[in-house]
This record gives sequence, structure tokens and C-alpha cells, in this order.
Amino acid sequence: MQRSDLPADFVFGTATAAYQIEGAVSEDGRGDSIWDAFARRPGAIADGRTGEPADDHYHRYREDIGIMADLGVDAYRFSLSWSRIQADGTGPGNPAGLDFYRRLAEGLLERGVTPWATLYHWDLPQALEERGGWLERDTASRFADYAAIVADSLGDVIGDWITLNEPWCSSFLGYAGGVHAPGRTEGASAARAAHHLLLGHGLALPRLREAMPTATVGITLNLYSVRPATESAADRDAARRIDGLSNRLFLDPVLTGAYPEDVIEDLGEQDWFAEHAPAEDLAAISAPVDFLGINYYSRHTVRAGTVAAAAAASSYPGSETVEIVDTGAPRTLMGWEIHPDGLLDVLEQAHALAPALPLVVTENGSAYADVVAPDGSVDDPERTAYLEQHIGACRDAVERGLPLRGYFVWSLMDNFEWAWGYTRRFGLVHVDYATQRRTLKTSARWLARFLGRRAGEEPA
Ligand code: FCB
Repeated sequence: MQRSDLPADFVFGTATAAYQIEGAVSEDGRGDSIWDAFARRPGAIADGRTGEPADDHYHRYREDIGIMADLGVDAYRFSLSWSRIQADGTGPGNPAGLDFYRRLAEGLLERGVTPWATLYHWDLPQALEERGGWLERDTASRFADYAAIVADSLGDVIGDWITLNEPWCSSFLGYAGGVHAPGRTEGASAARAAHHLLLGHGLALPRLREAMPTATVGITLNLYSVRPATESAADRDAARRIDGLSNRLFLDPVLTGAYPEDVIEDLGEQDWFAEHAPAEDLAAISAPVDFLGINYYSRHTVRAGTVAAAAAASSYPGSETVEIVDTGAPRTLMGWEIHPDGLLDVLEQAHALAPALPLVVTENGSAYADVVAPDGSVDDPERTAYLEQHIGACRDAVERGLPLRGYFVWSLMDNFEWAWGYTRRFGLVHVDYATQRRTLKTSARWLARFLGRRAGEEPA
């Protein structure tokens, strides 16, 4: 496979998120986010650590831009820390916070890397969580105000925007499973958080359009390929439920303007949605976007399980009894099964709902137990193979005629992997957290060659 197997304007990029890489959590007026507060909770993070200093990217961003320029990527997807821009989630923008992202964007442009900015990658200002967080409708309005501040300030240097990253994680892992910030276990009420997140997206859209009429704006969903373990009615119903909660609850409102009734019923939330998700909300949520971002990692093969096996605080409220089956497929260190063809499934699923809408894989990648050799090199053949297979699936998607426009590797560099702390490495670039030394892994060198770097120009 080579780059020329994909269209010349196909975008190859790398991705990160603010809290996972920046550090500098109390610098230049940044306020706490829900992840700062959650990470301080004993037992919340596998290694007991926090996003300070992570990759110290706030101070080392120039070096990181240089690495991307050397790799030859077209674009870099990063996220903005809301609490760097509005410490408590309200009021005017903090000039120091906005200036950091301007320097980052300008630095990228100088090196020929196009900045793609995500407005919300899970780090709600803690002050807003204390007022109810995403369970409160008002948080959606706060998000739209924040989006407007950012667009007014950075719209001249950033043309590609993503409103939300993975609202399923923000709502169901954060408010039902409790394994992500803010660590609440509110059961099916997590669906209300999902509605308010999507409403935030919907209210932000016109504000972004007004400030940046020529920008391209999308939303990123994490989609799973979901299959029943057998063709039994019970297993097919299990697949319907998990596809419903993880995929359709988000795809349908954004692309078709309606929530899937079966999923709202599974959740037992019909009354709340009837009263609190009126037609005008759905009209805002389904306003046209310029592309759909899809984060794809794995497939879920599911079967109908038993009540006894159900987790107490499930991230699938109302469908707690469904079990995810081990199919024997190879897994990454996250335990996630590797199914490159599942990427085609989710692209097809989204495409069927919105045939004209461009699609972008805004994240895909893998964690492995990387080892630094005595000579300092990091050889990661599994990650290299994972990348090759999934980029191959992108080529297949384009050959099938799907409007797939780009692919971003998660992640540029090892970073704070949320509840897993620093125990899971997803980077193309290895980070020694004691020294902050960055080392290109074999996968990074493979990508650079794939992107057309000649041997002599191979990045150091
Ligand atoms: C995604 C997140 C990203 C990273 C990868 C591994 O769900 O968007 O921040 O943690 O998983």
C-alpha cells in the first residue's frame, strides 16, 4: 500500500487532546476542569497520577510541531482546554489561554501543518460541573458562548473545527459508568447529559458559522461495529441495544434530526425526552455540518447475558445485562479487539444516513507495551501493523465510493490515557515522562515513509 492509493487531497494527520498532553494545569489563569478534580480522587486513575505535567506540551509545543513537520503529516488535530479560556466556564475569554492556541496554530501553519481544533475533548470547567454539569441544560448555552469566544479570537488562523469529541464517553462513561470525569453514576440520566452535549453542539453551530463563514465544522462520534454473537433473537436484541446506545443515539439526532425511539425506551427516558428535547432542539442538533468525524477503535460482539453478571454501575444503563464476547481476535493492550473491517462497517452505517456528507476518521490507533531498547530505539511492529491495516481499510472505503476524506492517528505521542493514567501508550512518538524526551517509534518512521519522506529525509 502507498499513499498514492488514496486521493491526493486525502488528509493524513495525528491527534491529541488538551488534558492528555498540555500539563501547565494552573498556569496563565487556567481553572480546574472535571478531569483535574477527578484525577485527584483516590483510586480514580490507575497509576494515581494526573494531567500534570503530562507531555509538558504547553511549553514544548514548538518541538512537537517540528516532529509533525518531520513526519510529513498534513494536519494536526488538537483540542482546546475550555478552562484555559474561561477558568470557570463563564465570562470573557482569557487572553493568555487564547494566545497559547494562536501561537500553536501559527506555528503549525508556518511548518505546513493544518490545524484542526476540537472545542470539547471531555474537560468541562469544574465550576460548571458544580452547577450540575452536563445534566443541566444551561451547560449547553455556556458551551455555545465559549465556542463564540474561540471563533472570534482564532477563526483567522484555524479553519477546521470539531465541536465535540465522543459525546458517548462524556455522557455514559462520565455520568453512568462513573469511570471518567465527573465520575457520577446516575444510570439512565446519563442520556440527559448526552442530549445537553448534543444541544451544545447545536447551539454552537450558528455561532461558529457567524464568526467564521468559510470554516468547515463537524462533530466527532466514537462508533463501534456491533455484531450479535449468534443469530438468536436475544443476541440480536443485545446488538440492537448496544448499537443503539453507542452509535444511533448520537448518529440519528445529528444526521436525521430524531432520537431512536427504541433506545429512549430501553433507557426508560421517554417522559424526560418528550418534555426536555423539543423539536427545536432537534432542529439545532441536526443543522448541517461539513463533515462527520468518526473515531474508530474496535468491534463489539455481544450476547444477551444474565442479571447476575451485570455491572453495578454500567455504562450501558437499561442494557446492563448485555455481555461483550471475546471472539478470540487479537487485542491491543487496552483489551480492544482488532478488526480493521469494522471501520468499514461504521463508515457505511454513517454514510447510509447522510449519503452526501464527507467522513473523516478523526482517531484510530493502538496501545502496546512499548519497550525502549538499550540503544534508545522503540520498535513497535504491532502498532505499525495496526496502522497499516486500518489505513488499508480507508483505501478500501474510498474504493467502495465512500466519501472518506481523511485519517488521523491517535496519537502523535504517548500521553495521559484518562483513567489508565500513563500506563497505556498510544503514541507514534515515545515520551520518557521523567525527562520529557521524545523518541520516534518504528511506527512513526513507517508513517513518515508512507507519507513520502525519502530515506535520506527520514526524521531523526
Ligand atoms: C478515545 C479518546 C482519546 C483517547 C483514545 C485512546 O476514546 O477520544 O482521547 O483516549 O480513545
